[in-house]
Amino acid sequence: RRLRPILALDDFEPAARRKLPRPLFGYIAGAAETNSALNDNRAAFGEWAFRPRYMIDVSRRAIATELLGESWRAPFGIAPMGLSAMMAYRGDLVLARAAQEAGIPMVMSGSSLIRLEEVAKAAPGSWFQAYLPVDEARIAALIGRVALAGFRTLVITVDTTTMGNRENNIRTGFSTPLKPSLRLAWDGISHPRWLCDTMARTLLSHGMPHFENNFAERGAPIIARHVERDFGARDHLTWTHIARIRQQWSGRLIVKGILHGEDARRAAEAGVDGVIVSNHGGRQLDGAISALRALPEVRAAAGGMAVMMDGGVRRGADVLKALALGADFVFVGRPFLYAAALGGEAGVRHGIEILAQEVDRNLALLGSLSPAELGPQHLLRIAGVPA
Ligand code: FNR
Repeated sequence: RRLRPILALDDFEPAARRKLPRPLFGYIAGAAETNSALNDNRAAFGEWAFRPRYMIDVSRRAIATELLGESWRAPFGIAPMGLSAMMAYRGDLVLARAAQEAGIPMVMSGSSLIRLEEVAKAAPGSWFQAYLPVDEARIAALIGRVALAGFRTLVITVDTTTMGNRENNIRTGFSTPLKPSLRLAWDGISHPRWLCDTMARTLLSHGMPHFENNFAERGAPIIARHVERDFGARDHLTWTHIARIRQQWSGRLIVKGILHGEDARRAAEAGVDGVIVSNHGGRQLDGAISALRALPEVRAAAGGMAVMMDGGVRRGADVLKALALGADFVFVGRPFLYAAALGGEAGVRHGIEILAQEVDRNLALLGSLSPAELGPQHLLRIAGVPA
């Protein structure tokens, strides 16, 4: 019922906005400083038009896609998003299970509130995204733990040298950990559906949520006055760390947050299997180039590595444009978290289904048989046209 009016991924946002307390919605929707990186992620797609071909037999088209030796049912997956379990009851599990059932990859965030072992068990096809801890010993411990849990694909996010400037979070009163306040209490009480569906259910069945994984060995409570933070101390990391992780990690290794051809080359030298071209949904460096714009250069420099992208993908048409510009695969963030907040697993499945159908329909309309066929010949640049 709640999902019936949702006809496109963008429909999840206003519905989730009504359900979620303001600081939580703002945390998902927000970006860094002026939002220019965020807005350009969408604008970049509007600068390309399709060149469809007709009277081609596309009746046997398929959207299934090979990536790093595995076959997925669609050329897209779910991007890692931290704190998902605050937005939806057991959020990471909701996203992971829905993805598993739909045959697409879900990347579990390293700043999750749910233990990585639980997600690996519930949805063994999930990938794990790590924010690297500060020192070598803790990096090694984290990698060991991720391997032991059964993850086969490790994503290292490299664009968080330090935390992006998200003024929006200060304005709405969002922080990690949350600071108890009257305003926060009122925000919760005035969103009773969220309070019952997510917060009360979580507290009753699992107690106070804790940061898990690499934030602190024991996990720090989500609501607290003082907490030891790792963020901000990550500004000394280099490609040497990635090369060292490569020696320790025998699964697939992916680096997320690449926007430069030269960095793709460095990643390849470090022995990485794939890169995710991304500006972190505009949440890190404001004014950073959008992933779609960076794609062709990264593709040219990537050699045999898999090239993935995220940022602003909202339609099947966006997926096809990214693939035509050199991506092997794309990821979608915010809409799936809104979907989880609004409708749990059924909401996320609905979102995946909408996007998969759009990809399939547009593939036919473009006159193409498979995502792997797409290339620059399918697009024309229409520079200067506002999105
Ligand atoms: C993120 N992103 C992110 N990336 C990452 O590597 N680790 C993380 O923990 C998070 N956390 C996170 C939380 C939330 C609420 C958002 C919206 C985003 C970035 C994410 O993986 C992805 O790069 C972008 O969200 C993609 O852009 P779209 O699809 O949201 O436009």
